[in-house]
Amino acid sequence: MTALSFNLKQIGLIRSPYTNNAPYQPVDEDTGDFRIIVDPQYVGGLYKLAKFRYIYVIYFIDRISHKLSMETFPPWANGMKVGLFASRSPVRPNPIGLSVVRIKHITGCEIETSGLDVFDGTPLLDIKPYVKDLDAKTDANYGWIQEMADREHLLLHIKGIPHDY
Ligand SMILES: C[S@@+](CC[C@H](N)C(=O)[O-])C[C@H]1O[C@@H](n2cnc3c(N)ncnc32)[C@H](O)[C@@H]1O
Repeated sequence: MTALSFNLKQIGLIRSPYTNNAPYQPVDEDTGDFRIIVDPQYVGGLYKLAKFRYIYVIYFIDRISHKLSMETFPPWANGMKVGLFASRSPVRPNPIGLSVVRIKHITGCEIETSGLDVFDGTPLLDIKPYVKDLDAKTDANYGWIQEMADREHLLLHIKGIPHDY
């Protein structure tokens, strides 16, 4: 196979309170300024987006400092080793991030959202509506996370939810 290279365009940027330490995944009840700012030339693409409650935010994970490896050790998983593509690690051959967040308000080219798991200024690649039934799979499972002792506790870590133990 000849591997092709592609050019992607930044279409905006993401504002968040995080400069170097973000949650592992979006935290719905996170507080702070979370905004997606779309470049004015794409603002027409937001027409009717506010009708949806949730969106997929797709972005370029631009400040990776770790070396790429096909094996990864999720930081919350007690040393468990998994293949990169069985993980949500940000260190990937194509460092593209995907987060589902709730729309709070859309004003002009700015979308105020619930909590995001990205650093401030992360380049925006795309936005897509999250559609009930189309996107929520009722038979989804926990994959290898299912095999871990204390799964429910670990899921609180993944989701960045504060807890007492
Ligand atoms: C585990 S990744 C998950 C990203 C996305 N929700 C996903 O599943 O594709 C989230 C982590 O990426 C890192 N991160 C966020 N924005 C980044 C950026 N612009 N450059 C480098 N690392 C970033 C933070 O350490 C954050 O905890």
